[in-house]
Amino acid sequence: MDGAPETLAGVKDVDCAGKQALVTGSTNGIGRAAALALARLGADVIVHGRDASAGDAVVDELTAIGVDGTFLGADFADLEAVRGLADTVRAETDGLDILINNAGALIREGRVTDLGVEYTFHVNHLAPYLLTIELLDHLQPGARVVTVASAAHQGVSLELDRVTNVDRHTGVWAYSHSKLANVLFATELAWRLDHAGREVTANSLHPGAIPGSGFSRFLPGPIPRLVRALDSLPGVPTVADGAAELLFAAVSPRVADVSGRYFSGQRLATPSVAARDADAARRLWEYSADVLHIDEPLVESPNTRPVADDA
Ligand SMILES: NC(=O)c1ccc[n+]([C@@H]2O[C@H](COP(=O)([O-])OP(=O)(O)OC[C@H]3O[C@@H](n4cnc5c(N)ncnc54)[C@H](OP(=O)(O)O)[C@@H]3O)[C@@H](O)[C@H]2O)c1
Repeated sequence: MDGAPETLAGVKDVDCAGKQALVTGSTNGIGRAAALALARLGADVIVHGRDASAGDAVVDELTAIGVDGTFLGADFADLEAVRGLADTVRAETDGLDILINNAGALIREGRVTDLGVEYTFHVNHLAPYLLTIELLDHLQPGARVVTVASAAHQGVSLELDRVTNVDRHTGVWAYSHSKLANVLFATELAWRLDHAGREVTANSLHPGAIPGSGFSRFLPGPIPRLVRALDSLPGVPTVADGAAELLFAAVSPRVADVSGRYFSGQRLATPSVAARDADAARRLWEYSADVLHIDEPLVESPNTRPVADDA
């Protein structure tokens, strides 16, 4: 299929038959397009989101392609729902080969979840952190964990004191900060997986600025309508272009051994200085475990980490 994500990513000949993928936030947008592309490559796909009717519609499309598709609903602002999602994935699959942490939101109002954590940080970082940790033992050798960050991570640094204090909240800052957390999380996860001897890679990426996805609904006033109008202009990245970024990281043989890196434009890219701060990555990891009241996962020896981690 010309213009399909798997073609755009140069992976249309990759055989994913027998592989099991979970794509979070695949009821809509680039996650949905990536889920369908993985299915066309032969993978069985678990669709996730909150909108059950949209999820069921994606499952119907997966079934028509000829793979097994399942919809599992979970609100990422609800930790018990995230734990329930992981429990069901563990119960209903033999193992996961591809985990794409794609679900994301931008909450403009400064409000906190039941955990007392700012909403965007909770949905965009803490939920995928918990989900990934809960599924660690379920990841098959050779599995890839892909976390969808954004170029919006640039321009902010890690400020964990603002996670539980929304006095200075702005939606754009909270979104950028959560996307910085995505990059730091992927790097730290990769480091700890490698140190633990696990044959699992972890990377993050920027999918491009995609006006045709549903993401513009988080923006105020007439902006969603204006942004969506851009989608029809020539040269503007499409949802398929965005999904191709996910496909590239998830299945391309070219990056099978790459871990702890950030992709943009289907290339290795250099994230911001703040996103390359190994100390910040470690602090975020430990903070996340602490705020979730879980034991620190993949504990590492302090003596094993290099002093500088310049990606
Ligand atoms: N579009 C862009 O220009 C752009 C640029 C850079 C990065 N990104 C990133 O790309 C990812 C996908 O975004 P998109 O553009 O495809 O947006 P989208 O069309 O709005 O899709 C977002 C997906 O996330 C799910 N989601 C949102 N809030 C959730 C919650 N509280 N609990 C569970 N699922 C939730 C939605 O499912 P339900 O509606 O069913 O809950 C939906 O499937 C996000 O991480 C975003 O930050 C997008």
